[in-house]
Amino acid sequence: MSNQAEFYHELLGQTKALISNESDIIANMANVSALLFERLAEVNWVGFYRLVGDELVLGPFQGKVACLRIPLGQGVCGTCALTGEVQRIADVHQFDGHIACDASSNAELVVPVKVAGKVVAILDIDSTAFARFDQQDEQGIMSIVKIFEQNITAQNDTKR
Ligand code: SME
Repeated sequence: MSNQAEFYHELLGQTKALISNESDIIANMANVSALLFERLAEVNWVGFYRLVGDELVLGPFQGKVACLRIPLGQGVCGTCALTGEVQRIADVHQFDGHIACDASSNAELVVPVKVAGKVVAILDIDSTAFARFDQQDEQGIMSIVKIFEQNITAQNDTKR
């Protein structure tokens, strides 16, 4: 296993351990953003936005204060929520409509959180380093989000 593959394997295990016994989604978002912020190098902001109606609303995060609400389709986060596709942006200044919450952010990775195929939230990770995120980061963060999605689905199932 490469160093990066090992790193994400370990991070995945830590995420599972952190959230598997907790059913509160907000509490899990808080701890996952803290874990990622602590473990990922060159990252200046990690957090969740929840999709409420046709807007993204700021959720638990680590980093500087951020935009409270982002309309669906706007910025990197709004584009991710609208398309349901990962946005891995090497230079956010080249992204049409990028919303600069923190002027020092230069690269961004945004992964949708889906339940029953629908976007319910997004996980946003910002870096001051251009092209900070590669394909392995994308896959690694997606696998962490998958654990998160399974946790939410399991909560929904027990409520039924
Ligand atoms: N840059 C994001 C906004 C959210 S902040 O980076 C925390 C965007 O363009 O959607």
